[in-house]
Amino acid sequence: MSDIKKKLKEKYEQLGENPETYLKGLLHAKPINYWDYVEVNTLLSLQKPRTHFKDESIFIMYHQVTELVLKMMCHELEQITEEKQLTEDYLITKINRLNRYTTLLITSFDIMKDGMDYDDYNIFRSTLTPASGFQSAQFRYIELYCTRLQNLVNDQGKSRLPVKPTIADYFEHIYWKDAGLNRKTGEKTLTMQQFEDEYLEGFVAFAKKIEGNTLEDRILELPELSSDLKDKLKEFDVLYNVKWPLVHLSTAKHYLNKKGEQKAATGGSKWIKYLHPKHQQRKFFPVLWTQNEKDSWGSN
Ligand code: HEM
Repeated sequence: MSDIKKKLKEKYEQLGENPETYLKGLLHAKPINYWDYVEVNTLLSLQKPRTHFKDESIFIMYHQVTELVLKMMCHELEQITEEKQLTEDYLITKINRLNRYTTLLITSFDIMKDGMDYDDYNIFRSTLTPASGFQSAQFRYIELYCTRLQNLVNDQGKSRLPVKPTIADYFEHIYWKDAGLNRKTGEKTLTMQQFEDEYLEGFVAFAKKIEGNTLEDRILELPELSSDLKDKLKEFDVLYNVKWPLVHLSTAKHYLNKKGEQKAATGGSKWIKYLHPKHQQRKFFPVLWTQNEKDSWGSN
């Protein structure tokens, strides 16, 4: 019996199954093909524009591409945070991957800016209210994987936190609430309400699960950080928390602020202020930045 047959026999016997039955199945099974394996037909049936404007499909597909890339990033982050023994080489490989994915998102964003008709976009976007990219949950999961909750609260938020904040306190003051919570009246935009109803419970549960084990925690517990690894981590921080936000903001300005008229966003935020990295102050690895660099975050 060939080695492979022996191994197959052992595999199914260990499962308490008859190997012959499985081999017979293999004999009759159809060979796999590209379209079934990649689920091409399903994937290509997921674009459902709400208007007749041709570029609405581009808008939907580019968001879908982004969500897939964010899923690849979550996939990497899940592996890193679950890895028992982190080595320098492993981390550099993984952070390089994260940087590559984020660069892809930054360099492709022109598809949104110059790749859609300005007037058409400004009409079909009104049918999307109150939906907004703000409601992308994977965008928030990446933050929760990467850093401790305290780093997702900007200086203004920190001044409101109690002395010993709980996870719920951090979420109450997390930077992204600035997009749709009126802190004076307690009122929330519909975009924010929908988002929290759908995802907040899951975010809190995930934050509890990953507490003490985020990428930042894992890095802080390493005995030493090489300058190479530090550079990669800093690069990731800048790509994800400065460069992507800036390229996204410049596209928002292109459509919503062309002649300084500041149109309302579909998600209803005071978006020019809110979307700027200077306002959000989001950093995954603050320990790697000098005070000067932190103070000028997003300025250059
Ligand atoms: C024409 C293209 C786009 C415009 C004009 C635009 C505009 C905006 C605006 C104004 C906001 C602020 C929230 C609000 O009030 O709605 C926002 C948030 C957001 N958008 Fe977009 N966006 C565009 C494309 C995209 C794409 C392709 C993605 C990818 C998924 C995306 C993801 C996000 C995310 C994640 C946020 C929240 C950012 C944060 O909280 O820091 N946007 N967008």
